[in-house]
Amino acid sequence: MLYKQISCAIALSVVVYANPEPAPANNAAAAGGGTGTTLSANAIQSGSFSDGTTAIGSEAGQAASLTSQNNFINNCAGKTLTNGLQITTGSCNGITMGDIPAKTAMVSSVITNPQTGGAAIASDTSFNITVQMANIVAGSFTDADATYYSAPQALQGGQVVGHTHVTVQDMGKSLNPTTALDATQFAFFKGINDAGNGKGLLTAAVTGGLPAGNYRVCTMASASNHQPVIMPVAQRGTADDCTKFVVNGNGNTANAASNNGSGGQAAAAAAASAVSDPGATVAAAGAASSTAAAGKAASTGTGKGGAKGAAGGGGGKGGKGRKERLRRVFIS
Ligand SMILES: *[C@@H]1O[C@H](CO)[C@@H](O)[C@H](O)[C@H]1NC(C)=O
Ligand SMILES: *[C@@H]1O[C@H](CO)[C@@H](O)[C@H](O)[C@H]1NC(C)=O
Repeated sequence: MLYKQISCAIALSVVVYANPEPAPANNAAAAGGGTGTTLSANAIQSGSFSDGTTAIGSEAGQAASLTSQNNFINNCAGKTLTNGLQITTGSCNGITMGDIPAKTAMVSSVITNPQTGGAAIASDTSFNITVQMANIVAGSFTDADATYYSAPQALQGGQVVGHTHVTVQDMGKSLNPTTALDATQFAFFKGINDAGNGKGLLTAAVTGGLPAGNYRVCTMASASNHQPVIMPVAQRGTADDCTKFVVNGNGNTANAASNNGSGGQAAAAAAASAVSDPGATVAAAGAASSTAAAGKAASTGTGKGGAKGAAGGGGGKGGKGRKERLRRVFIS
């Protein structure tokens, strides 16, 4: 029922806006988000009064924006409120986006390990995912079970206060799939909740490593309350980074073999696309179960890569199933 009270308060506030007078002392904006239930006159964004279709520079074909006289403050009234929770069936979040950094302080990330085109990673072997970030005050995260999206993005020294995450997804048989990956599936996930080296270099340990396969790792830079970082301009580089990489069967050939088909083709693709790169060597080794693929990789790749691939291609039998391994997910 709280939304009804807020609704009344806003109606009053709009009157105040049309006929300015001092804002109430307990006003939300004055308290920086505190306890007031009225929308301050000086917080109303008149930019939302217009649908944009008549604005200077509007383009043919552009959609008319929704409009609001009150910052859409009741947009979620009557809907399932996000309310600090990760609601898997969808919800409506009524919290403002918050403070936005200057163009000169936009969040940026680059994954420094695994490396693009670098040597494949041995299966079932611990490795670190490392991310170098710029323009973030890292190491700040709120309770994701009770305060998810529940407060606006905030800045400190002009930089977004927050953290990042890394998600590794199995791409199946190819390093270049043509079907978008299922966002509900991942082989590894970790919120990096510490400040790293204090200079934006953050690390997530993949303890125990991954089964052989083709993977994509991406970052997800977030404000403290886990919302993706909000930036000031449209024309910009992304705040995040992704890298595709191969895990081969060197660490545990039995496991790699249990992953045949996908692991084999994966490795072949990597070997073929990384002809003169040492990565081809290791990638081809992952082609264990796929003799034909390994052969092809050998012929397109360097002799060395092919030879090692063949050597690694002895392949084990059986081993742990991929499904079981994928269940071992790290969440924080
Ligand atoms: C991962 O990084 C940590 C901290 O920098 C380091 O101690 C550890 O040796 C690294 N692990 C691997 C497998 O490189
Ligand atoms: C790959 O796995 C399938 C199903 O388990 C098996 O029948 C086939 O022999 C395996 N191929 C290789 C090359 O190991």
